[in-house]
Amino acid sequence: MTLKPLASLLLCLPLMACAQEAIDAYEPVANEDAAEAMPADPVAESPRPPREPDVIYVPTPQPVVDAMLALAEVGPNDVLYDLGSGDGRIPVTAAREHGIRAIGIDINPTRIAEANENAQQAGVTELVTFREEDLFEADISEATVVTLYLLQSLNVKLRPKLLSELRPGTRIVSHAFDMANEWAPERTEQVDNSTIYLWTVPER
Ligand SMILES: C[S@@+](CC[C@H](N)C(=O)[O-])C[C@H]1O[C@@H](n2cnc3c(N)ncnc32)[C@H](O)[C@@H]1O
Repeated sequence: MTLKPLASLLLCLPLMACAQEAIDAYEPVANEDAAEAMPADPVAESPRPPREPDVIYVPTPQPVVDAMLALAEVGPNDVLYDLGSGDGRIPVTAAREHGIRAIGIDINPTRIAEANENAQQAGVTELVTFREEDLFEADISEATVVTLYLLQSLNVKLRPKLLSELRPGTRIVSHAFDMANEWAPERTEQVDNSTIYLWTVPER
């Protein structure tokens, strides 16, 4: 046996002992300590961005608004909800022409501001309320008449909420869009170039 391997082994022994010491000294860091060391989550701390509207704003022409309220046979004891209320013309007309309480729900704060301005100009602020909310999450249970000008796909998506939250007998009127094969309207009318549809929430 030559002396070279023996000399190499003697040189390496202290280094191997050092490495073993380092391995023995390692301890896992507890989760809380790790969390404290992390920078704050910028996404969790920023305000929630408002949700994009599901459909753009297009106002219902006034003759169609009047026909929708007539098709629903709005009377003095009704409470009307317009889901996606835009500039508020349907609730404002319901309050002005029928003297009833009316609520508009819109996700866009600009529309809510316009609607409040229109209610003020029409002198119906006592009867009309506009709420900046997502119509799919809003409490609509007190409505006796619901008006819609959304899209067919949104009407279909909204149908389970309408059927479960509205009382039997509540009328639903939609401008331009039906509920596909999911729910046949009980009446349909043609006004100018628009079609309007009527459903009534059935007994459970
Ligand atoms: C076609 S416009 C109808 C406006 C009004 N109902 C009318 O007939 O003149 C649809 C409105 O729905 C609103 N909208 C869209 N998605 C919404 C949502 N998820 N919740 C509440 N409003 C929404 C839009 O901002 C827009 O004002």
